[in-house]
Parts: sequence; structure tokens; C-alpha cells
Amino acid sequence: APRIVVLISGTGSNLQALIDAIANGTLKADIPVVISNRPNVFGLERAANAGIASKVLALKPYTNAGKTRTEYDSDLARLIVDAKPDLVVLAGFMHILSPTFLNQFPTTPIINLHPALPGQFDGARAIERAFEAYQRGEIKHTGVMVHRVIQEVDGGEPLVVREVEIKPEDDLAALQARIHAVEHVILVEATNKVLSEIASV
Ligand code: GAR
Repeated sequence: APRIVVLISGTGSNLQALIDAIANGTLKADIPVVISNRPNVFGLERAANAGIASKVLALKPYTNAGKTRTEYDSDLARLIVDAKPDLVVLAGFMHILSPTFLNQFPTTPIINLHPALPGQFDGARAIERAFEAYQRGEIKHTGVMVHRVIQEVDGGEPLVVREVEIKPEDDLAALQARIHAVEHVILVEATNKVLSEIASV
């Protein structure tokens, strides 16, 4: 089966969606390793519970030791390359990857999940920022996407885009829950899409 290396930074509910899809046969793949840039996050427990190996590589020890982000990115790339991935999935991975990193993957596709529509609310706290924009009357709905990762930040081609409604009675938690539910579906969908492209090459 194709090998998917999953990168996380937190709760890992989207990692769980991939694990569940593999378990129920919706996704025919293996996850040889999960890599987190933060120690002690719940996503690492999810990996352990599924019998998946995990590694933690945090940026802080690098910066504390006077090392650069480039050195971090190149060690991160090494960890991933060693796992021989057919596909790299960024599932809530909150670290912007440099060209140094991306250059190590000239042929391996990398995809990223982002809780906003293309061109909107790039970067961190996207759901909060969409909610605030809605409250100011600037947007009527938001969305979720999975896109290819290329060197230009958030410049990669969207693979799956889904609109998510915002209701007048929503609080932030309600909107987050609605968005996460859609994410769990489209991440599996986009992963399957890329895997089927790889298989047909
Ligand atoms: C998800 O909402 C994902 O879209 C977002 O982080 C969350 C991770 O949740 N990613 C980004 O904001 C990327 N810029 P999870 O840890 O439960 O999967």
C-alpha cells in the first residue's frame, strides 16, 4: 500500500480521520510514521493508540542552540525522507515549510489542510478570523480546503474545496465543530485523489 507520512502539531483529529479511513477501508494506505513539531500533543497519543510510530522534532531546541530554521527544516525533511513516503500530508501542521524543505521532495506530493477558502485567512487562527469577519459582516460563509504545497506560501493548487455555512446563532465553538467535521471528510477525499493520481502514473 502507498505510504503516507502525516505531520501534526496538535489534537490530531484529522490524523484520526485518516487512521479511521484506513481501518474501514475507505483509504488504502499505510502510515509508517507520524511527525509532530510539538511534544506531548494529543495527536501523538492517537498515533500510539493506532500502533503507529511517531517522532517529535521541535524547532525550539534549534533556536535555543543558535541553529537556523533552515537546519531544522533540513532535519525534518531527513526524518520524512527516511520513512520513504509516497505522499506527505500536513494535518494541522503549524510550521511554514521553507524551500530547503520542499527541495527535498521534488517528486513526492505534499498536501495541506487549511480551514478557510482559497485566498482567505492564510496562516494561523483561520477559523477565529473567519468568525470575526462574519461578525463584522464582511463574509457570509467560510470553508475548508486541501491544497498542494508548493514553494509559494498558500500558492498551491486546491485539490478539494468545500464551503461551510456560518449561522447567526453560531459561537466560535459551534463554527469550529462544523468546520472540523467537514475537514475530516475532505482530507480523506483529497488524500485518495492524490493517491489515485500516483497510482495511474
Ligand atoms: C485543523 O483545523 C486544520 O485545518 C488547521 O489546524 C487544525 C488541526 O486540527 N490547520 C491550519 O490552520 C493550517 N494553517 P487537528 O489537530 O484536530 O487535526
